[in-house]
Amino acid sequence: MSLVQDNTPVQRPVGVVAQATDLKRIYKIRRGLFKEPAALHAVGGVSFTLEAGKTLAVVGESGCGKSTLARMVSLIESPSAGQLVVDGHDVAIMSSAQRHNLRRAVQLVFQNPFGSLNPRKKIGAILEAPLEINMPFGKDERKRRVQQMLKQVGLRPEHADRYPHMFSGGQRQRIAIARALMLSPKLVVADEPVSALDVSVQAQVLNLLADLQAELGLAYLFISHDLSVVRHIAHDVLVMYLGHAVEQGPKQRIFARPLHPYTQALLASTPGLSKERIVLKGELPSPLNPPTGCVFSTRCAHATERCRAERPLLRALDERLVACHHAEKFLDDGDQGAPVVVNGSAGSFSTAKSSS
Ligand SMILES: Nc1ncnc2c1ncn2[C@@H]1O[C@H](COP(=O)(O)OP(=O)(O)OP(=O)(O)O)[C@@H](O)[C@H]1O
Ligand SMILES: [Mg+2]
Repeated sequence: MSLVQDNTPVQRPVGVVAQATDLKRIYKIRRGLFKEPAALHAVGGVSFTLEAGKTLAVVGESGCGKSTLARMVSLIESPSAGQLVVDGHDVAIMSSAQRHNLRRAVQLVFQNPFGSLNPRKKIGAILEAPLEINMPFGKDERKRRVQQMLKQVGLRPEHADRYPHMFSGGQRQRIAIARALMLSPKLVVADEPVSALDVSVQAQVLNLLADLQAELGLAYLFISHDLSVVRHIAHDVLVMYLGHAVEQGPKQRIFARPLHPYTQALLASTPGLSKERIVLKGELPSPLNPPTGCVFSTRCAHATERCRAERPLLRALDERLVACHHAEKFLDDGDQGAPVVVNGSAGSFSTAKSSS
């Protein structure tokens, strides 16, 4: 990325901004002194292409690997296997100078706007900091850019002189977004950016993100467990379960006719998105000991012997990819209204968050 001169309009990113191919992240978990460490497949092979101006939403229950994927794409953690190309660079074979530049092209917004802003610094200083470190601008130019950015995210110039605690949750998330945009990134990785906010405020922040995307051509990797949020912001959706993509493709296709039973259950547990009520049976399996065969087979009402024995690969069907042996069955299943049996309660997706 070239250094931006004063008043030079930033070039809109075009084309593919990030591409993952069979991306994996395996954690070694110690199990005592004499045992071999166990391998936890937090992300077990995920592929996607993300273009400028588009939003890929990653959805799934707590622990399915969303944040691990986000940390890899934002260069915080290295993949254990697979290929990740960000802004044209294969992250596995980059020079440290390229990595440094790439860190500016990819910025993060976290869930918790309370924890992510230094309480002792004024907003102006928080927003100036990335420029001070990375750009050859003088103080006046930095201040000008801070003012401009505050306006762009719907705040006022005088807010630069206030401290984070003087703002509401929604305003703080605007500040976090402003900070992420100070270096004109191409890709913003947002990990549950509105989950800590009231529903009314969520919509405002989502609208802001959509406006900024339209203006600046940003690509978003948008992590959320909440499909009603995803419905507003996503172009493409990647549904994860136990570290695996079970369904992915254009949002319209997936919301209109989910073909994986897990996607169906996720949609059914989201108020207003489905007439159907599917209640998942059983517990989420331990990622240290995933089911053989289909990862979802232990909780799937449609699972057969084949599902328990043979892991379904992602395959193209009805304009998306789906990893289910029986996906065809749902293609002309107009009547999804019949409740699927089960014990447990509706909407029992665990969305517990560690709000760090
Ligand atoms: N640093 C780590 N060391 C060991 N295991 C980890 C580490 N980070 C994550 N995990 C494990 O990897 C799996 C995926 O975790 P991750 O945080 O990516 O899930 P998530 O989808 O973001 O969940 P949530 O919705 O709760 O934020 C979980 O089983 C988690 O316990
Ligand atoms: Mg997470």
